[in-house]
Amino acid sequence: CGIVGYVGTQSAQDVVVAGLKRLEYRGYDSAGVAILADGGMAAAKKAGKLLNLEKELKDRPLPAGNTGIGHTRWATHGGPTDANAHPHLDNAGRVAVVHNGIIENFAALREELAGRGHDLASETDTEVVAHLLAEAYSSGGDLAEAMRQVCRRLEGAFTLVAVHADEPDAVVGARRNSPLVVGVGEGEVFLASDVAAFIAHTRSAIELGQDQVVELRRDGFTVTGFDGLPADVREYHVDWDASAAEKGGYASFMLKEIADQPKAVADTLLGRVDGTGLLHLDEVRIAPEVLREVDKVVVVACGTAYHAGMIAKYAIEHWTRLPCETELASEFRYRDPILDQRTLVVAISQSGETMDTLMAVRHAREQGAKVLAICNTNGSTIPRESDAVLYTHAGPEVAVASTKAFLTQLVACYLVALYLGQVRGTKWGDEIRTVVRQLSEMSGAVDRVLGTMEPVRELARSLSSHNTVLFVGRHVGYPVALEGALKLKELAYMHAEGFAAGELKHGPIALIDEGLPVVVIVPSPRGRSVLHDKIVSNIQEIRARGARTVVIAEEGDEEVVPYADHLIRIPATPTLLQPLVATVPLQVFACELATARGNEVDQPRNLAKSVTVE
Ligand code: G6P
Repeated sequence: CGIVGYVGTQSAQDVVVAGLKRLEYRGYDSAGVAILADGGMAAAKKAGKLLNLEKELKDRPLPAGNTGIGHTRWATHGGPTDANAHPHLDNAGRVAVVHNGIIENFAALREELAGRGHDLASETDTEVVAHLLAEAYSSGGDLAEAMRQVCRRLEGAFTLVAVHADEPDAVVGARRNSPLVVGVGEGEVFLASDVAAFIAHTRSAIELGQDQVVELRRDGFTVTGFDGLPADVREYHVDWDASAAEKGGYASFMLKEIADQPKAVADTLLGRVDGTGLLHLDEVRIAPEVLREVDKVVVVACGTAYHAGMIAKYAIEHWTRLPCETELASEFRYRDPILDQRTLVVAISQSGETMDTLMAVRHAREQGAKVLAICNTNGSTIPRESDAVLYTHAGPEVAVASTKAFLTQLVACYLVALYLGQVRGTKWGDEIRTVVRQLSEMSGAVDRVLGTMEPVRELARSLSSHNTVLFVGRHVGYPVALEGALKLKELAYMHAEGFAAGELKHGPIALIDEGLPVVVIVPSPRGRSVLHDKIVSNIQEIRARGARTVVIAEEGDEEVVPYADHLIRIPATPTLLQPLVATVPLQVFACELATARGNEVDQPRNLAKSVTVE
């Protein structure tokens, strides 16, 4: 979601709405503003794109004021309706809050408030904060102090910005996790999720740290920790122009989205593990009895999502011992697949709008199968037409070539596989806890990979004049090879192919000649070491034919070193989880190679982000 706050001398509504426009890439399911004017507060909010709110503000203008906040929402929990749009107000309409993130203990807080006679109008976690703030404020102190008190009681990841009608010249913000940046102007101060929102007014910025509260006044600002102690801040100069800032300073949305991945992976796990380390997926509204009756799983998807589905097959069969097949959605229904009430169809789609996948979903349901969607876009068609949905929390993905959505699809697939195991009793509690813990360590592992990508970029640039690159892998490394090849096709318009390493000798090896780059994804030498031995032989076969080998292998895997012309290290992970780290260098590789070839990476030729035709 995108957040904006303003205190100054200009029309707060104009500044806030213009800021929201620059943050629309963060979501456009609904938008709203609250303005302090004439000793009171006025608010407007509308479902749908910002345009709807702008129209509403034109038809029913708010009184003019110089202090205000605004929000543009990307819905994940709670539909994109007017009522669920931010800001949320307390009963008296004196406090307004906008919020980004999830407050995990909101149900308990809600109950507590109801017990004290509060009348809550919505089901949202944000409204709870508005009420808590109103209460804390009325017991004395100022809005910043009330915010600190409330933040100390909240669990989860949240960024909040609030105003109070009794403090008409103040905006207060709090940050835990999602970003919040202060913009310092002359006699005016801004607050936003991203400098893009205020770059037209000032380039002087301060990024809030974790667990900090900022109070904006017309002539300056104060930052403290949630504990009330003063915090050190560092002012910096933003040297991008307004258009680059929309991408948070990255040259492309794709680069930004690649960098977003550690957070996207962590966010997709958030709130899905209970206090005992087991999975808590009540949101999957298929009764455990029904899941226990399932005798076959079919995964359907297209493009990158299909590669996530291929990996899901390994996880589902391994953890649940249920037979699972993965099929391209466009092929699925036309071959008259065998489906019945005991079949669970898992449909994976970032956009939730891909027509091929939607048609597969409809066909499956007509045959009586249960459909579970894995989707990144709240309220889109595929989840609406499915029996159940597990949302990925990648945030809006703008670049056409999917990156962070893919990693979160993998996380969701692992969760589904484990959950099936948990419900059906094929995985014991401790085994599930172990995998869940390993999954929770993957965000950090992805982050570490991102920190070591300079040699990969260098390699990509050095290969920019090649015409062909091959990718090979085994087990879950095979879909990773396919994904690496797809990225290169989409972005660099190169001939790129992915193969199962064992299949190479049955044909594709004839493609190899002197200097052909072949990327090999090497499984962990621990655990299933037979896989590792086999791939080491495959690398030797490839190299013996003159290929230039680019080897992606675990830290500490010394056996591959003699056969690697280029070695890319990834952290050691359990075999099934390796795609989460092994894919990242391939994304960076494709992006850099495409850039070196002068291609526009965010909007590659002939493609669309969401393909709504069959
Ligand atoms: C399009 C995009 C791909 C994407 C595929 C499936 O072809 O260009 O990047 O993987 O659709 O999209 P979905 O939204 O269903 O995941």
